[in-house]
Amino acid sequence: MIDALRTVRSVVRLERIETDPIERRLRRAASVADLRRIAKRRLPGGVFDYIDGGAEDERTLAANAAAYATTTFRPRVLRGLAEVDPSTTILGGAASYPLVLAPTGFTRIADPEGELAVARAAARAGLPYTLSTLSTRSIEEVRSASDGRLWFQVYAWRDRGLVAEMVQRAADSRYEALMLTVDTAVFGRRERDVRRGFTLPPAVGLRTIVDGALHPGWALAFLRSDPIRFANVAGRDVGDGASPVSLADYINAQFDPALSWEDVSWLRSIWDGPIMLKGVQTVADAVIAAESGVDAVCLSNHGGRQLDGAPSILPLVGPVREAVGDRTAIICDGGVRRGSDIVKAVAAGADAAMAGRAYLYALGAAGERGVDRLLEWFRADVVRTMSLVGASTIDELNRSLIELRDDANEDR
Ligand code: GLV
Repeated sequence: MIDALRTVRSVVRLERIETDPIERRLRRAASVADLRRIAKRRLPGGVFDYIDGGAEDERTLAANAAAYATTTFRPRVLRGLAEVDPSTTILGGAASYPLVLAPTGFTRIADPEGELAVARAAARAGLPYTLSTLSTRSIEEVRSASDGRLWFQVYAWRDRGLVAEMVQRAADSRYEALMLTVDTAVFGRRERDVRRGFTLPPAVGLRTIVDGALHPGWALAFLRSDPIRFANVAGRDVGDGASPVSLADYINAQFDPALSWEDVSWLRSIWDGPIMLKGVQTVADAVIAAESGVDAVCLSNHGGRQLDGAPSILPLVGPVREAVGDRTAIICDGGVRRGSDIVKAVAAGADAAMAGRAYLYALGAAGERGVDRLLEWFRADVVRTMSLVGASTIDELNRSLIELRDDANEDR
């Protein structure tokens, strides 16, 4: 009996009761899939679906992730790597590992701190953060919350004067680079949003009240914080979300479908720093971008939210790198859920990977601390993966370390 008690005592470890609810939530999470599951529980259905969903049949959304799943490593062993250093340079500045935080619209629907939380977490992690034109905290507010590397995403408003004004504001607030989104001539059809009649900000109707009651943590935070607005155009006649709008109606009314390469030259004429194009999806367009002196192409299908049937991104990286050489940087966007995905993107030829949904799940699950945790996981994943594939620096990551199922992707 005494022996049995001793045995029990030697194996029982009473876990300290965690009184902090956020920490309690985070303790149960080990991956982006876990954060997504927690966010799904905490956020109203419409909000979660807006973040999680893609266009039409969501084939491109699924293909982005599938490309990572089917790409395997060719790990090298016995390389005597005592240390692994994941730090790198992206567009001439330092990054603690090769990741860029993607622009996401309306971030405050996931958590009231919204873009401020993400910008602070990115700065703590030593990574660039891209603020969306359709952000719910302004260019200036985000700069005052963060001393880190900030980039600004540009949508082509029909009113080019408004674009020029925002670009000037970004320059005044020491944003380093512009990222022009080129895949949103018109808005993709996101059928989850159509079915739910989703608007921004979420309209308070009977459905939302029921949804809010089922998600009291989110609903209380939403009601306590100041109203969600499209902060960069607050009070302007283009509409700032003071009354709820369907995003498709808003974007189709305000953004210019006739955007062309001439607009890229125009942007160059009003901005001295680096310019990136987000939404390049073919080798042909990447080559034109490189020839036009664009500093980086963000290979992206907008996380599968625009053209369903657009190609997945990871297999595009190698052919684009071959075609553009070192003339332009390459950022690989879409489907990144683990640090090993970041390593695959860089081994394929990208300078960095870019992730949006992953941090929105983290924000919805556990606010700013969720984003901190995610970015720590990603860093640790990158270091572990580099160690296991036999690369001690980012420069040592190359095509020989991965096997894309679709390796001979010549004519993209
Ligand atoms: C906005 O850019 C979105 O994809 O919803």
